[in-house]
Amino acid sequence: MRAAVLREYGAPLDVVDTMETIETGPGRVKVRIRATGMCHSDLSGMTGKLGVPVPFVPGHEGAGEVVEVGGGVTSVAPGDHVIVNFIPACGECANCRRGDGHLCTAMMYKAAGTPNFRLDGQPVFSLIGCGTFAEEVVLPHQSVVRIDKDVPFDIAALIGCGVTTGTGAVLNTAGVREGSTVAIVGCGGVGIAAMMAARLAGASQILAVDPSPAKRELVTRFGATAAVSPEDAEAAAAELTDGQGLDYTFEVVGRPSTAEAAWKLARRGGTVVVVGVGARDDLLQLSLGTLATQSKNLVGSVYGGMDVPRFMQQLVGLWRDGKLDLEAMITRRLQLEDINEGFDLMKTGDAIRTVVEL
Ligand code: APR
Ligand code: ZN
Ligand code: ZN
Repeated sequence: MRAAVLREYGAPLDVVDTMETIETGPGRVKVRIRATGMCHSDLSGMTGKLGVPVPFVPGHEGAGEVVEVGGGVTSVAPGDHVIVNFIPACGECANCRRGDGHLCTAMMYKAAGTPNFRLDGQPVFSLIGCGTFAEEVVLPHQSVVRIDKDVPFDIAALIGCGVTTGTGAVLNTAGVREGSTVAIVGCGGVGIAAMMAARLAGASQILAVDPSPAKRELVTRFGATAAVSPEDAEAAAAELTDGQGLDYTFEVVGRPSTAEAAWKLARRGGTVVVVGVGARDDLLQLSLGTLATQSKNLVGSVYGGMDVPRFMQQLVGLWRDGKLDLEAMITRRLQLEDINEGFDLMKTGDAIRTVVEL
């Protein structure tokens, strides 16, 4: 089958047509991927920032159809449409028992460390155990979320990472309240999803911060009430709030400097949610003299901040009710052969989401 593989950090992806998946063993399912979004974490993996072993197949924002199930799998059957869930919940650890399946690491690390492809007889890894830049993937059955067949694969794919991560940070982690003021620092796919959720939650002001002029042009469609470049953000926040700062700020880039910017934009007692994924040794500098005295809340948010399958179903419902304009997030469609163009586009900061159809 066809797949895009990264052979060394910093290189472009190599599209091959002789990739093989591992066997659909007990507890596993084989999915024919139909659409996959391109997320910044794929690029971070490809530059070596996330420490993914090479060679690997990137891609973790995907949806498709189950074509085979291994022994003991009863949750899905061939023909079912599914979204790939990159944090499968084991159901048994302390996090899972508490209802926080999104915090389960039992299966994810194992999946990430196990090659799920083969090329020319050699093992090939995948980004966080997924590898959706391939026509077929074999995954633990906990890694797929069954959805109704009326949901187009491209929409379902976006829910696989960016939409869940962005909206969940706002609705679940922060719990943004009606009438509050919000900043979104970084308006890529994840940031735009956060912005739509802030609008849905009834935020009165949504300040979009992004260096891309093209981005600042199009964010009003997703709920932004003002859009500024990073240099102008502090002044804009002060003007909107009489110098107080904003109630909730979201860092959706994944860099220390943008996390610090989000910190500064929040008011005393406000909430700063870090959604972007930096490298392990990227450190955040905060003044200890202000942390307690300003009484701000600093919190991280992973994959929507709640039980992933349950939240994905809620998001499908919100999309169906016309409350999330996910179609508008797709700014480009590509075939797998041209996938490297999607990363060029991502680096400009002008794209929201590029979707590869398989
Ligand atoms: N301030 C604000 N925005 C910035 C800055 C900055 N200094 N630098 C870049 N950006 C903007 C880019 O212009 C772009 O619009 O951040 C956006 C990033 O968008 P994408 O590349 O599409 O990234 P996305 O897929 O949304 O992911 C963002 O969330 O899940 C994590 O790992 C992911 O860390 C990544 C982050
Ligand atoms: Zn992602
Ligand atoms: Zn668990």
